[in-house]
Amino acid sequence: MFLKQLSLINFKNYSEFEAKFSEKVNCFVGNNGIGKTNLLDAIYYLSFCKSYFNTSDSQNIKHNEGFFVIQGHFDKNGEESEVYCGIKRNQKKIFKKNKREYERLSEHIGQFPLVMISPSDTDLINGSSENRRKFLDGIISQYDKVYLDKLISYTQVLKQRNALLKHFYETRSFDSETLDILDEQLVIYGRSILDIRKEFLKQFVPLFNNFYQFISNHKESVALQYENSLEDRDFKTALMTALPRDRSVHYTTVGPHKDDLEFNLGDYNLKKYASQGQQKSFLLALKLAQFEFIKEQKNTKPLLLLDDVYDKLDEERFTKLLEMVSGDKFGQVFITDTHPDRMNELLNQKNIAHRIFLVGDTIAKEA
Ligand SMILES: Nc1ncnc2c1ncn2[C@@H]1O[C@H](COP(=O)(O)OP(=O)(O)OP(=O)(O)O)[C@@H](O)[C@H]1O
Ligand SMILES: [Mg+2]
Repeated sequence: MFLKQLSLINFKNYSEFEAKFSEKVNCFVGNNGIGKTNLLDAIYYLSFCKSYFNTSDSQNIKHNEGFFVIQGHFDKNGEESEVYCGIKRNQKKIFKKNKREYERLSEHIGQFPLVMISPSDTDLINGSSENRRKFLDGIISQYDKVYLDKLISYTQVLKQRNALLKHFYETRSFDSETLDILDEQLVIYGRSILDIRKEFLKQFVPLFNNFYQFISNHKESVALQYENSLEDRDFKTALMTALPRDRSVHYTTVGPHKDDLEFNLGDYNLKKYASQGQQKSFLLALKLAQFEFIKEQKNTKPLLLLDDVYDKLDEERFTKLLEMVSGDKFGQVFITDTHPDRMNELLNQKNIAHRIFLVGDTIAKEA
């Protein structure tokens, strides 16, 4: 599967843009602020029906314009699909495949799998545990709809339980019967979520370790562990033990919604002790493992978008990465770079089929 062609109207800094891509490596090259990342974001839209960066669709409409259009032509084993995304200010998003509009955007997501690697991924290390849970849940829900349903149900029951705890607090009352009913449901969904997450990590962690070893050339070891707020207790027991605390803070303090992933380099905490390049390598390994996992689940190679990967990586690590993603195990790749010749020289040296696009003011020319 690959993106053959992309065209844009009024998307971010582009009035009009059109390009045909290589099915292997494509590089967007140009100065800061010229629109390289914006092109990756447009491609991301075609897979996920939204921006990787902005939660508001209309922020992506070119300033002083009323709408934007993104159109892409994908090739899936010789069969062509046209994906259309149109957004007008303050109106419903229109998303179509082969001229047919979707009733629900969720029908589209997963059809053209894609993994984006971006400098903002550092939130996974520096941000709150919610970032890490979203990463975990995002991968699992892409292939396991049952998990997604359980997660949605769990979140709904949790919301009700927290509202009830707040009600107890405000009215200085307590009703164990209603609480028990909610706890029972919470425990059923929560246990399934935990089991599925653990099963997923059993397969994911070895993939992640392999990628880290490859990128770092076996220089250092890393670890990724599930941090369970239940601390080996049964969920029901943990809820009962935590009840006095939950009542005083009026929300639920234990359960899969409080769990986290612990990242280590050797025996030490990644965020506190690892260098920036080591942290970047860690993030790359996480995302590449995500790529590998989706590839196996979907039986197709996702598109890989690499934004500013050069940043913080040394020459050795970058070359290893580039060689790997240009190989047979990966499909179509998009890379951004500010340096005009670096990528071209490296790709020519390694004999890798590629296209270079020089991104200029609102247009991109092929080098
Ligand atoms: N809605 C919008 N309308 C017009 N221009 C926009 C809009 N949103 C972003 N931009 C412009 O897009 C440009 C940023 O583009 P982008 O992030 O793609 O740059 P880049 O080439 O990746 O730069 P860098 O090398 O610094 O990462 C900025 O000049 C910004 O003002
Ligand atoms: Mg950029």
